[in-house]
Amino acid sequence: MGDFDKALEEKVKNTEGIIKNFLPKEEGYQKKVLEAMNYSMLAGGKRLRPLIMSESYQMMGGEEMSLVEPFMAAIEMIHTYSLVHDDLPAMDNDDYRRGRETTHKVYGPGMATLAGDGLLNYAFETAMKAFDVAGTDSDKTGRVIRALRILADKAGIYGMVGGQCADIEAEGKKSSTEDEIIYIHEHKTAAMIESSLMIGAVLAGADKNTVDKLEKVGSHVGVAFQIQDDVLDIVGDQEKLGKPIGSDEKNEKTTYVSIHGVDKSREEVKRRSEEAVDLVKEVSDNCDFMVELIEWLISRDR
Ligand code: IPE
Ligand code: IPE
Ligand code: MG
Ligand code: MG
Ligand code: MG
Repeated sequence: MGDFDKALEEKVKNTEGIIKNFLPKEEGYQKKVLEAMNYSMLAGGKRLRPLIMSESYQMMGGEEMSLVEPFMAAIEMIHTYSLVHDDLPAMDNDDYRRGRETTHKVYGPGMATLAGDGLLNYAFETAMKAFDVAGTDSDKTGRVIRALRILADKAGIYGMVGGQCADIEAEGKKSSTEDEIIYIHEHKTAAMIESSLMIGAVLAGADKNTVDKLEKVGSHVGVAFQIQDDVLDIVGDQEKLGKPIGSDEKNEKTTYVSIHGVDKSREEVKRRSEEAVDLVKEVSDNCDFMVELIEWLISRDR
């Protein structure tokens, strides 16, 4: 195992520990929905968004980890809810996720819908715990408010939900334009990566210009990430991915790959990732791991 792989494994393990600390206890008359929430949260996954958030925070000089940790858990809750709903029979209708049966297969579609709702709401309940860490420090409180606003905007109708809407509408459509496909990728996927980078930086006290640049980094990384996801839906290995391949074809999805083919898609992943790396280097001299992470994503197979 190379140095980067070792560092990544260690950081993901640390991130897992942080996420676990914020999960709800499975008790009370609502126990079933809590079990379904934790089932999806504890199924593994790359933990990419909280990891990127924590790296962004530290890259921008953030030291007090307890301020960013509630937001790390929150972004993974929102991401996980988006997957639970994305897999529902009424959406992509997939049976496997993160190497196990999807939440709706185990708990039924009604409970899976509620688990998603629960995770989305609990994400905000969790992120707001950062106010307890900020205490009476008005500068920190201001940062937490700005971070909450980003968390809300990027997940909503002008962010991820908007992208999922366009994704569903493009099903079966042979004539989607480049603009539409980029809108879908920017919103359903890149918005949550932008959010992770921006929140880390805002909590660390970065200036507006830096946060704007990191939003662009997130846009490039996110679009590249989704193109690679679409490539892996065709050429990937189900075992490694932990989710079925061929889901996009089954649902007649419009993807970057369905329009441009695998080779051109791979080139685009590389081009966008390189642009992202150049921008990261503009905002920080302390970005070695972030750069390696972006480069690792280009050739990821899971
Ligand atoms: C899957 O995201 C959904 C997309 C945006 C492509 P990830 O590939 O990050 O899924 P996990 O979190 O590792 O399971
Ligand atoms: C989903 O895109 C993006 C989300 C916001 C959940 P996909 O539908 O391609 O994600 P996978 O392939 O099921 O993980
Ligand atoms: Mg989908
Ligand atoms: Mg899907
Ligand atoms: Mg996919």
